[in-house]
Amino acid sequence: MGIGELRETLAGNLRLQGFGCRALGSPFYGDLLDRMAEDAGAGGIVWEVLGPHASAPFGEVYPLRLLGGVHRLVLADDAPDLARHYPTTGGDGDAAATWGPFAALLADRHDAWGPALAHPPQTNEVGRSVALLAGLLTLRQAIRLPVRLLELGASAGLNLLLDRYCYEQDGFAWGDPGSKVRFAELWNDGTPPLADGVVIDSRRGCDRQPIDASDPAARQTLMSYVWPGQSRRFELLQGALDIAAGSPPRVDTAAMTDWLPAQLAQPRTSVVTVVFHSIVWQYLSESERTNVEDVIAAAGARATADAPLAWLRLEPPPEMVPVELRLTLWPGGQERLLAVGEFHVGALQWRA
Ligand SMILES: C[S@@+](CC[C@H](N)C(=O)[O-])C[C@H]1O[C@@H](n2cnc3c(N)ncnc32)[C@H](O)[C@@H]1O
Repeated sequence: MGIGELRETLAGNLRLQGFGCRALGSPFYGDLLDRMAEDAGAGGIVWEVLGPHASAPFGEVYPLRLLGGVHRLVLADDAPDLARHYPTTGGDGDAAATWGPFAALLADRHDAWGPALAHPPQTNEVGRSVALLAGLLTLRQAIRLPVRLLELGASAGLNLLLDRYCYEQDGFAWGDPGSKVRFAELWNDGTPPLADGVVIDSRRGCDRQPIDASDPAARQTLMSYVWPGQSRRFELLQGALDIAAGSPPRVDTAAMTDWLPAQLAQPRTSVVTVVFHSIVWQYLSESERTNVEDVIAAAGARATADAPLAWLRLEPPPEMVPVELRLTLWPGGQERLLAVGEFHVGALQWRA
């Protein structure tokens, strides 16, 4: 590919990313990405920074990696000219006024972009706890044992703390009534079995690259990947990180294909073991998926009424939307589609 073509490819990817950001609630990034596209097409500073990755597939999201790096400096009080415009730091959200200081920062802080571009964005969406809790409430109807939670791809482990948030629906409430993380009336078409409670026996997760919720720099990294303007996501994350900082859940640094077999090696009696994951499956290779499925099925075959096993997952289908909540339960191995919903936080429909 010639240089002109590469610039156009990069500009096209930036525009496409901007379209996505605008559609998903960040018009600020939408406008900023349009300006970045123009600059890249003209061989400006954006081309200088992102040019080496111009031919990378769109899915590797280099523009979002760079935006995350800039946002991190903004959140760390390291870019006051930008902070006055970024919605996440109380700024005016004026992308046109942001562009000048944004381009200047790209030129001034070359040291920051190598590390920023080296990693794909990492998130932890606490809004997924609404669906996951519904799965546990459904499970409670069948099995009245305390729950042993095992999360795959837990990130900071915020969804392992799902009982520390407050959920309200149709006059029912669960979780911690004083929690600063609150969800209200998100089920808009049918409701999960609401009347029961969930008793958590233990919680533990794994991630290839866990985020330590008690480390301020790690928290900022996680927050930097939320798009400015998505204020609900940002507030929920901040609130959940505050809750986790006091007693962070245990998230082991491990690939799930190494970690899960050890957790499931022996059936545990007097609890129901729940292996769960949300928006993780798409990041696994075909062989990793088969491996995890085989490990769960083998543990399912060993499950008994006193040591049952559940597999709860919130994952997109092959056509990507809507995201599906599915539950499989052993002994028996019966699978049910429980609900469908969105990727982050939003309306959910009960399907069981
Ligand atoms: C999109 S994030 C979702 C995080 C969390 N489950 C949530 O719903 O917010 C995907 C997570 O999976 C982790 N991950 C990807 N592949 C993994 C693997 N093979 N083993 C362990 N963790 C993995 C990533 O590091 C990342 O934290």
